[in-house]
Amino acid sequence: MTRQQTVETALVDRRGQVNDAIDEYLPLDDPEELYEASRYLLKAGGKRLRPTVVLLTAESLADVPPLSTDYTAFPTADDRQIDIMRAAVSIEIIQSFTLIHDDIMDDDEVRRGVPAVHEEYGLSTAILAGDTLYSKAFETMLETGAQPARSVDAMSELATTCTEICEGQSLDISFERRGAIEPDEYLEMVELKTAVLYAAAASIPAILLGYDEAVDPLHGYGLDIGRAFQIQDDLLDLTTPTEKLGKQRGSDLVEHKQTLITVHARNQGVDVDNLVSSDSVEAVTEAEIEAAVDRLREAGSIQFARERAQDLVASGKENLEVLPDNEPKRMLEGVADYLIERDY
Ligand code: IPE
Ligand code: IPE
Ligand code: MG
Ligand code: MG
Ligand code: MG
Repeated sequence: MTRQQTVETALVDRRGQVNDAIDEYLPLDDPEELYEASRYLLKAGGKRLRPTVVLLTAESLADVPPLSTDYTAFPTADDRQIDIMRAAVSIEIIQSFTLIHDDIMDDDEVRRGVPAVHEEYGLSTAILAGDTLYSKAFETMLETGAQPARSVDAMSELATTCTEICEGQSLDISFERRGAIEPDEYLEMVELKTAVLYAAAASIPAILLGYDEAVDPLHGYGLDIGRAFQIQDDLLDLTTPTEKLGKQRGSDLVEHKQTLITVHARNQGVDVDNLVSSDSVEAVTEAEIEAAVDRLREAGSIQFARERAQDLVASGKENLEVLPDNEPKRMLEGVADYLIERDY
């Protein structure tokens, strides 16, 4: 197996375990429409990248052989056992909550290959489903069985993360109405809306398991790879067909989102505000998107963004020095690479 295949296998294995745990911990099987809507997006799939980061970080810190340990009775630094899978599930519930509200704000109709929650259930139920998941995530994070002081620290990290996601999403929306922004403003926005959840995923295992010296470096790893992840997400919005992406290609162009690609292109003199003329995701054509991508490619903007993402992955990996030299650590390095090599 090549290294990339090994990483992809590691991702698939853990995704399966996370999916099983979601079914077990979050049955939400009350027939009420609210619970049906809350479950709907979690059931629709998703790559489960953030909970996989939780599990791999825990495996590396505890220095256990990959997948050999029961995640629900996971060894801590002081020989207690906690359910680290609950932390992984909690992070994925937050991810799903943010996607439900993001699709409302971005006026997107497709998510994870199915109609967005607000399309399927209406706006009010979608807002409530997001809110329900938001609070379920905190309940789930409280159920790991970790020492109370550590649970409080993990909850605090999660709460700060959620506030920052809102700040980032607010910046994202405000940038739609602004002209030129600086690359650093973009990077601050994506740190807040996206990277902080990767930072929480990487650092919360260190908090809960009692590896205090690893918390900050792991947080730094998550921030850098999370920023790189969002740059790749912006690239995929331009280049990957809707069916493969599971969400509408070209949505960012229609919504006038500011990305590192358009920030660079504007500086090269490209009229980025008029790259596509359609003002809805239903109306925009593949030909329009292709023409826009050609303009961005000619301006060197695609390449520019790719290189910034590579730099961030490299600097993110340096933080992993804090981990023992073991297979899960190498998988975390591989996950960092995967985030910018992935094609969906
Ligand atoms: C999408 O995240 C939201 C962003 C922060 C760009 P993912 O691409 O990880 O979405 P899922 O969880 O796999 O559906
Ligand atoms: C999403 O960014 C960030 C969060 C969900 C917090 P995007 O708006 O780019 O995500 P997608 O492309 O819709 O998944
Ligand atoms: Mg969106
Ligand atoms: Mg958005
Ligand atoms: Mg996007």
